[in-house]
Amino acid sequence: SDYSLLILPGDGIGPEVMAEVRKVIDWFQTHRGMRFDVSEDLVGGAAYDRHGTPLADETMARAQQVDAVLLGAVGGPAYDNLDFSVKPERGLLRLRKEMDLFANLRPAQCFDALADFSSLKREIVAGLDILIVRELTSGVYFGEPRGITGEGDNRVGVNTQRYTTAEIRRVARAAFDLARKRSNKVCSMEKANVMESGILWREEVQWVRDYEYPEIELSHMYADNGAMQLVRNPRQFDVIVTDNLFGDLLSDAAAMLTGSLGMLPSASLGAPMANGRPKALYEPVHGSAPDIAGQDKANPIACILSFAMALRYSFAEAEAADDLEKAVEQVLADGVRTGDLMGPEGGTPVSTSEMGDAIIAALARS
Ligand code: NAI
Ligand code: MG
Repeated sequence: SDYSLLILPGDGIGPEVMAEVRKVIDWFQTHRGMRFDVSEDLVGGAAYDRHGTPLADETMARAQQVDAVLLGAVGGPAYDNLDFSVKPERGLLRLRKEMDLFANLRPAQCFDALADFSSLKREIVAGLDILIVRELTSGVYFGEPRGITGEGDNRVGVNTQRYTTAEIRRVARAAFDLARKRSNKVCSMEKANVMESGILWREEVQWVRDYEYPEIELSHMYADNGAMQLVRNPRQFDVIVTDNLFGDLLSDAAAMLTGSLGMLPSASLGAPMANGRPKALYEPVHGSAPDIAGQDKANPIACILSFAMALRYSFAEAEAADDLEKAVEQVLADGVRTGDLMGPEGGTPVSTSEMGDAIIAALARS
């Protein structure tokens, strides 16, 4: 088969939204001749219930071999009191760590039909389609020294922002590779005006562009100005590449440009494998939503758009990814809404499976 995919539905609404992705995969296999080698396994609380660990060694090994891992969500009240070492999120953390996923991709895409859900005015966000690439394994969250020293009124809290040439270059390459599949435009954000790591970041990103990606149009921006520009005129950007801390803030801010949590996909990429494809984990931004789990109410779009990202960035199936995103756009334009997408005007929400079916029907018309 052409593409190997490991599906980890997880807990809560994870299996419910993943069932809709399975329909989409089946559709592409039947109607577009794509061949997926799909395997499915347990993660999170579901894996704990079966194996006493949130991610079995065999599952971890399989994740290292496939072209892409697609994860639903982990966690839930049944597991809140477990020992830290076996908590559901440890399964996800193990995947991220052992696959060395250093580039976190957070798209902010605003479908016209949902522009009124944005925190900003429709004129500013309608049609928005940007991608923030956040460095995920280094920077101030991990740098040494760190800790709290001293006593009483004289304590000092220390964290260290530290980046190496290799860490900056690899995330820059990831961003430039992604930009090649979009519009060849990248904006790098740091604070080279006040931070040494920012100076290095700017120099190394520029170096990778000059020596390896001459066709990329690269600009640099101070991250504080970047935050302003993201809410002033976000459509000026295509790909943004930034460090762990700034990326954390900027991607959360950008998420609010688009609307519901049920709509937001994400991906984390690692180093290229022998076949040239990067190690990759795709997942919706939302969690297991225990408040609506088991009720066929969850919005499957975040998970379906995560699969669209896999089509685009792991499998280089840009046309299929475009068609899937357009099918989502079409059903939204037709007024099909899960509960989380109901505005104040109300209406009748569709179920998880009805939303999936509507997307398949729109695909079939494409
Ligand atoms: P959450 O994202 O699960 O839910 C927040 C709110 O958004 C809830 O009201 C939920 O019903 C709604 N929501 C989320 N996804 C939705 C969807 N697809 N369609 C419709 N409504 C949706 O976050 P929360 O409540 O903080 O966490 C619940 C559990 O999920 C916890 O155990 C938490 O640890 C876990 N979690 C897991 C994540 C992951 O697997 N990556 C990420 C965030 C939380
Ligand atoms: Mg955050």
